[in-house]
Amino acid sequence: EKGGYATFMEKEINEQPHAVADTLLGRTDESGRLVLDELRISEEQMRAVDKIVVVACGTAAYAGMVAKYAIEHWARIPVEVALAHEFRYADPVVDERTLVVSISQSGETMDTLMAVKHANDLGALTISVCNTHGSTIPRESDAVLYTHAGPEIAVASTKAFLAQITACYILGLYLAQLRGGTYADDAASVMHELQDIPAKISDLLGRMDRVKEIARFMADTRSVLFLGRNVGFPVAMEGALKLKELAYIHAEGFAAGELKHGPIALIDAGQPVFIIVPSPDTPHELHKKVVSNIQEIRARGARTLVIAVDGDEDVVPFADEVIRVPKCSPLLQPLLTVVPLQVFALQLSTAKGLDVDQPRNLAKSVTVE
Ligand code: BG6
Repeated sequence: EKGGYATFMEKEINEQPHAVADTLLGRTDESGRLVLDELRISEEQMRAVDKIVVVACGTAAYAGMVAKYAIEHWARIPVEVALAHEFRYADPVVDERTLVVSISQSGETMDTLMAVKHANDLGALTISVCNTHGSTIPRESDAVLYTHAGPEIAVASTKAFLAQITACYILGLYLAQLRGGTYADDAASVMHELQDIPAKISDLLGRMDRVKEIARFMADTRSVLFLGRNVGFPVAMEGALKLKELAYIHAEGFAAGELKHGPIALIDAGQPVFIIVPSPDTPHELHKKVVSNIQEIRARGARTLVIAVDGDEDVVPFADEVIRVPKCSPLLQPLLTVVPLQVFALQLSTAKGLDVDQPRNLAKSVTVE
């Protein structure tokens, strides 16, 4: 049932091209326009939405953070991301023009379910991004956008994460198309580019030998930091979460711009730091800014493990290791940059002799608050 792989997680990492491709399937008509037939909210209600709140936990919440950048850019609707258990017991400003997007692989996470029920009580429109047909959260929501990652068995989420991000892109492009505006015409071309991503993930999965080797030599590491900016920031958080969950190593993800406001004090000789570098065509010179972050931490002795796109030579002088990912548009990069971090955590866990699929103290779906 593990399809020849040693663990479910390894199998699921390798299924990621399919998870993305299947989630994209059947969402557009012949002209490339998005048609979300399964959405049970009227176009009129969708057009009236003036605020989006994403509610989720764990990895799904990081997919929500990626969604914020993409949806705000394409659809020009403000997006907040709330941890479901925090949303439920705060006093959120939500009304009938708020779209509450829950993200959950299992569809059974109690914290997320309670947040959705709360949103319903407040009169919001609720939509569930979910991987499990017939589960509770989609049933409690006004609408559902299914991810088609297939069953995910390993406790630590991998392919569901990529499928969740893909579904959120689809939602953002759909809203852009519906509302008109500057980016409405981009929907078709972004959907077109998304179709190329599965092949790029396959290509990337074929280049993981060095990442595995790096992980094997780091079995004694006590702390790893992750830096990213823009959509690379949630990827940094997810890289850190994977390492905590799977290898029981202290790990933290930071926004690279925040480095100088505190975390740089953590850098001393030999401290491993992963840096997710935005592609050089990212607006606002973010690429240059992150490259100078690498330079700063390297000067303080950090061991820099740099994730950069093919052809980005600017990182080379400051990198102890360069892990290459295929190029794509800046907003779509998380679908690629997270993959080496998943493989890294898996290998490190294996090198430590741990149970990859069933890490201690964790459950695949937490059905208590
Ligand atoms: C946690 C799992 O308990 O729940 C995480 O260990 C997962 O891997 C999180 O991301 C949310 O789960 P779900 O099913 O709501 O996406």
